[in-house]
Amino acid sequence: MKVLVLDGVQEKGLKPLYEIPGIKVDIQGKQSEEELIKIIGDYDAIIVRSATKVTAKVLEYAAKLKIIGRAGVGVDNIDLKAATNKGIIVVNAPDGNTIAAAEHTMAMMLALARKIPAATAKLKEGIWDKKAFLGVELRNKVLGIIGLGRIGSAVAKRAMAMEMKIIAYDPYISAENAANLGVELVKLDEVLKEADFITIHMPLTKETWHMINAEALEKVKDGVRIINCARGGIIDEEALYQALESGKVAGAALDVFEKEPNTDSPLYQLDNFIATPHLGASTVEAQLNVAVDVAKEIADYLQGNMVKNAVNIPSLSPKLLAKVRPFLDLAEKLGNFQAQLLDGRINRIDVTYGGEIVKHEVAPITTMLLKGILDPILQETVNFVNAPVVARNRGIEVRQTTQDKVQDYNNIITVKVITDRGERTLSGTLFMGNDPRIVNIDGFRIDAKPEGHMLVIPHNDKPGMIGKVGTVLGNHKINIGGMQVGRQKQGGEAVMVLSIDTATCDDTLKEIADVDGVLDVKLVSL
Ligand code: NAD
Ligand code: MLT
Repeated sequence: MKVLVLDGVQEKGLKPLYEIPGIKVDIQGKQSEEELIKIIGDYDAIIVRSATKVTAKVLEYAAKLKIIGRAGVGVDNIDLKAATNKGIIVVNAPDGNTIAAAEHTMAMMLALARKIPAATAKLKEGIWDKKAFLGVELRNKVLGIIGLGRIGSAVAKRAMAMEMKIIAYDPYISAENAANLGVELVKLDEVLKEADFITIHMPLTKETWHMINAEALEKVKDGVRIINCARGGIIDEEALYQALESGKVAGAALDVFEKEPNTDSPLYQLDNFIATPHLGASTVEAQLNVAVDVAKEIADYLQGNMVKNAVNIPSLSPKLLAKVRPFLDLAEKLGNFQAQLLDGRINRIDVTYGGEIVKHEVAPITTMLLKGILDPILQETVNFVNAPVVARNRGIEVRQTTQDKVQDYNNIITVKVITDRGERTLSGTLFMGNDPRIVNIDGFRIDAKPEGHMLVIPHNDKPGMIGKVGTVLGNHKINIGGMQVGRQKQGGEAVMVLSIDTATCDDTLKEIADVDGVLDVKLVSL
């Protein structure tokens, strides 16, 4: 067995690999696509940080590759889809750098409050200027945390020691979990209006992209200080520039940027802006932790054992995997579809399996479904193994039932998700054993292929509805590729599912929602 270790992953952390007799470990620096293509064919496993890109093209040449390890959290440098299609497991190390990122956040907060970088720069110019650098204290200030997961919680604990009052916005965790940390869970607007310091700790998703934009920055307290050590793109950098220049925002500290590397941002011209080049995880300890975590995973897998942090494929025996694979894909799609239809905080998920599918062990399929539901919220930190634990920790109850006999279908998976604002039920099946379809949404029978971009539009069943929605899409130059309508009775409620060639923007969705007779509209992108 041969393992290729790239990108300066800490060698000390590779001990678990060296302990396996017969394993050869090759250590090299960052590789370009062309360089990697030339050597990848020799290796059974590869470990990268974020510099080397493991693209679909590289994977075409990876004849022996079984597992890819990412020493860190984000797997954006690995083509997950191509890896999954080739049956290559991708593992990451989501826990090892939590403390490093939390401590970096505290360092940024204190550096902002006391203007340390600017004061250092002045001193190095030979100027002893005490007046220019009057700072503020953290004690008794309100800290608003957006995203109260691992790093957000670790920041909360540290900020408490600084005697700050902590409020947080995270629509996916329970008030009880927050209260256990001594944090008050509030709405986003309240964080914006109340906080003296705002720190961001959520993933970059469709929902969080530019969440802190000009509109949000208008709502913040005058003189707020903002820190982002999560992911670039959550803050609209242009809007932040304006708010820093006007003084509405007194200071900002970014460790992450929408485009990285970034060496010529207009933000760098501003005195009240400080930054680091994505150093959140760059501590000796964190880099050792992530190297050890990922080396252990690879060592386990190469010795035929279970892995803990697989982000794409369950670690089942190849024989069982081949049998349940189409159901796993269907379950992940159903979960992802549900996640994009839902409003509110999830309290319970009921999964019912019917038909031939119950001949198989369905627990891994439920796990895949949970991963599908939680993925858009938690991104890389939820995986095939930890999904049930993550659900439980978030107070989500999961019930699983099976029925041998079902009407109309050979097999069916029905997922009911109950939130604090209502419930939604979705059923899916496999036609011909491998062709996934959504066959029911909230009691309305349909037959929709779960792929690409789809609009789900509950509406009143009356003449002209399809035409009106079609006109709005036509006006916005959005082509409809397919359409399904389901209704229970004539003149009652109905649901239309439209496959569209490009994703819609919020304005188009609003225009559709305003059509008389439309009850709701949701964009689902798979
Ligand atoms: P996590 O999954 O434990 O926590 C993320 C939290 O964000 C969850 O509690 C989730 O409910 C919440 N969330 C999701 N969508 C939200 C929304 N729309 N509004 C508010 N909250 C939302 O992740 P983590 O390990 O705490 O990591 C947090 C972020 O930090 C991630 O983006 C991760 O990639 C990043 N990170 C950066 C560095 C760095 O080097 N700067 C290092 C490690 C992690
Ligand atoms: C991560 O995703 O682990 C962090 O952003 C740090 C890194 O990229 O190494």
